[in-house]
Parts: sequence; structure tokens; C-alpha cells
Amino acid sequence: MFSRRIAVVGAGYVGLTTGACLASLGHSVVCADTNVEKVKRLRSGRVTILEPGLEKLLVEGMAAGRLEFAASAREAVSVPDKPVEVLFLCVPTPMGATGAADLGPVAAVAREVRDLLPSGCVVVNKSTVPVGTAEATRRLLGRKDVAVVSNPEFLREGSAVEDFLHPDRIVVGCDAQDAAEKVAALYSKLGAPAVLTDAASAEMVKYAANCFLSMKLSYVNALAELCERLGADVADVTEGMGYDRRIGQAFLQPGPGWGGSCLPKDTHALLQVAAGVGLDFSLVAASLATNDRQRTLMVDKIRTAVGGDLAGQQIGLLGLAFKAGTADLRGSPALAVAAELHAQGAVLTGYDPGVPEGVPGVTDAVRVVDDPSMAAKDAAALVVLTEWPEFRALDWRALSSVVAERVVVDTRNLLDSDVLRRAGFSWIGVGRR
Ligand code: UDX
Ligand code: UDX
Repeated sequence: MFSRRIAVVGAGYVGLTTGACLASLGHSVVCADTNVEKVKRLRSGRVTILEPGLEKLLVEGMAAGRLEFAASAREAVSVPDKPVEVLFLCVPTPMGATGAADLGPVAAVAREVRDLLPSGCVVVNKSTVPVGTAEATRRLLGRKDVAVVSNPEFLREGSAVEDFLHPDRIVVGCDAQDAAEKVAALYSKLGAPAVLTDAASAEMVKYAANCFLSMKLSYVNALAELCERLGADVADVTEGMGYDRRIGQAFLQPGPGWGGSCLPKDTHALLQVAAGVGLDFSLVAASLATNDRQRTLMVDKIRTAVGGDLAGQQIGLLGLAFKAGTADLRGSPALAVAAELHAQGAVLTGYDPGVPEGVPGVTDAVRVVDDPSMAAKDAAALVVLTEWPEFRALDWRALSSVVAERVVVDTRNLLDSDVLRRAGFSWIGVGRR
């Protein structure tokens, strides 16, 4: 396979994974980030995000001379004798005040590099951006000899490297066929099916997929509530549904609501773009409303479990991250539930295997500790908010002797209720009989 000279701008979850994985496929990659401290750490071979396999790829790529770092996009595209053939945009596209994606960072990078890119270079948008951004980026660049391609990422945090190296599909969109093929060829070693389409359709795929996943989860959470009211068991119901290959077993776990830095943002953004063209996409709106409601339902459940009033109640939280396998707190449903518990007067101590004491980003509502028994101490209830498998293996007998009341509210249906009961706890799940 031939290798390309690639610049990746934005060395966050998406960009760093993309850069390190492309280097592992044999390409020569420079990752740029405006965060000087981050660049310094990366140059010394250290990754601060919790992403299995990423640090190994980083160290290997650097040792092989295929991965380097730059403190700006300008620097990345100006390395002498290494003209950039493909430039990936992996900068944030946060949700603006209206719910629409904020394209400021994408536009800023486009302006920074537009006069520096060699002729024939391809700019690839990997950030999740509204339909039409490839076209807008092309206009911002103002270069007829530089194509803009949309190549959405489908990486899940906590398994981003695995997802990159074993993708279900590669989606590449561009109105110039040769540019799309050039980008698809970067991944040829992976042997994944490639969907080559126009830029607008490729941009739409990402929103369509993430929004579908969020609707699947809202559906399951609403179903869990219905099961509770009707005396059915959601675990059996979803298992029974999931065997239908058209539905599948994945993404059928009820929880405290879905979160993270992508699903909520993309779902809001899809609603916005639909509204922008006069379409009332009420299905998507209902999915968002169901998600908000889910958090409230969990708080109600916890309040009932401690006797009907949260004021002054000591609650131990197990899990703070938005899902297991990551330390990421952005858009965490656990923190949303915590904020509401706090607002109702509960006193919160939280433990998360990925989140050390004193980590920035946790609300003042929670005192973070580095041991589950400290979270359990004197608690009127323990609440599982993130589905870390290690919570299953906790010494529940030992915990039963430090809590004030032996009550566990398991918003993830994670724990083995028999083990809990044997340890003297009453276990309250979601949608379970
Ligand atoms: C982000 C977006 O949230 C997502 O929608 C998009 O698909 C990809 O980029 P993520 O990688 O998780 O996802 O973001 P983050 O971890 O915040 O990383 C972004 C990086 O870009 C940060 O390291 C930041 O320092 C850097 N950055 C930001 C730049 O280098 N230049 C900028 O102008 C802005
Ligand atoms: C998501 C998409 O899955 C990925 O394809 C995209 O590129 C980025 O956004 P990620 O944000 O890492 O990935 O999280 P994901 O694994 O999708 O989980 C999102 C939320 O749904 C989490 O809060 C998680 O706990 C919740 N979830 C997931 C459930 O509540 N139940 C499930 O069965 C699955």
C-alpha cells in the first residue's frame, strides 16, 4: 500500500485516534492542536484520555517516525519537504445556544491553512457538521485546486481504536470522485465496505446514525417504564426483541438517559436542521423529551428509595462518566442525575474507576472519592449511574456494613440482584420485575 502525508487538526478523542490509527496503517501523520500543554504531553508519548490501545499506537507511531505533533494547523502544513496530501479537520463542533452546531473552529482552521495547502491537497471533514458544511468549507478555502470531502467518524469512546481499525463501514462524500477515492484508499487495509456518495449525503449519515441510536435508547427507556407499570421485565423483553436481526441486541440497555459529547449534540442538531427547512421532526423531538424525562424518573426512583425526601440524605454514587470505559464527563447522565439530587438537598459522594479525586468537570454537587467504600459510607442509598463492570465484582458484603441503609438503586440494571440480596441489600432496577 502507498502511504500518504496526512495532517490531522484537533488532537482530541477523534483526532488523536484518527492520527495514531492512520500512522499504524503506514501513513505519515502530523497531529496539530492549539493546546500547547497537550502537544507537549503527546510529544513525550503520553495520552491523558482513557482510550484502550491509544497510547501504545502513539508510542509505536512516534518510534517509527510516522507520527509527529504540531502546535498549530499552520505549523502542521508547513513542514519543509513534507507536503500535506490530506488534511483532516477534527476540531470540536459544539452545540451553540440554539442547538445548532457551532462551526467557528472549523472555519478558523480553514482560514488558517487556505493559502498554505499544496495544490491537489484534499481537506477532509471528520467533525460532525451540518449538511452543507463541506460546501461552506470549500467556499471558505476558496481554492479550486483543493477538494473538500466529508468522512464522518463512528468511533465510540472507550473503544475508539478498536472501532477505527475494525469499522462497520467507511463513508466518504465528495462531489469530486477522485478526491473521494483518495480518502477511501487511506483505509483500504481495513477491508471495510466503503459508501462513496456526495458530500451532503455523507454529512447526513452521521446525524442519521447517531439520532437513530438515541431514538433506540429513548424507546428502550420508555419501554422500561411501561414494563414497570405492567409488571413485565424489560431485560427479557429486550432480549426477545434483540434476537430479531432487524433489531439486534446492541443498544437496548435502559439507563439513566443517554449522554456523552455526541448523541445529545447530534440529536439536537438534526432537529435544528430539520426545523431550518420547515420540517417538524417530532419523532426526534420526542426522543429528546423522553431522555430528559428519564433523568427525572431516576431521581424520583431514588427519592422513593430513601423514603420520599432527599433533603439531607447521604447518597453514594457509583459512576460519574457518561458511560463505562471512559473518564469522559461531558454530557454525562450521571452528572445530570447528581445535579438534580443535589438540587433536592441530597449530600453526594461519588466514585468512578475512571475519574480520579479532584478531576475538573465534576459539578460541585459531588464529593469525588477514590474508593467505593468511601462512597458507600453512611449512605442512605447507593446509586449505580455508570455501567462499569467492576461494580459487579465489588465486595457487597463488606459494603453492607458501612452503609446506613442497605438500598441500591441500579439505574443501569448492571448488578446481580441475587448477589445483592444475599448481602442484605434491597435492589431496585429499571423496568425489572
Ligand atoms: C470533536 C467534536 O466534538 C465532534 O463533533 C467532532 O466530530 C470531532 O471533534 P472530540 O475529538 O471528542 O470531538 O473533541 P475534543 O476531545 O474536544 O478535541 C478537540 C481538540 O481540538 C482539542 O484537543 C482542542 O484543543 C483542539 N482544537 C480546538 C484545536 O486544535 N483548534 C481549534 O481551533 C479548536
Ligand atoms: C457515539 C456513537 O455510538 C458513535 O458511533 C459516534 O461516533 C459517537 O457517538 P459515544 O458517544 O462514545 O459514541 O457513546 P455510545 O457508546 O454511543 O453511548 C452513548 C450513550 O448511550 C451513553 O450515555 C451510554 O451509556 C448510553 N447507552 C448506550 C445506553 O444507555 N444503553 C445502551 O444500550 C447503549
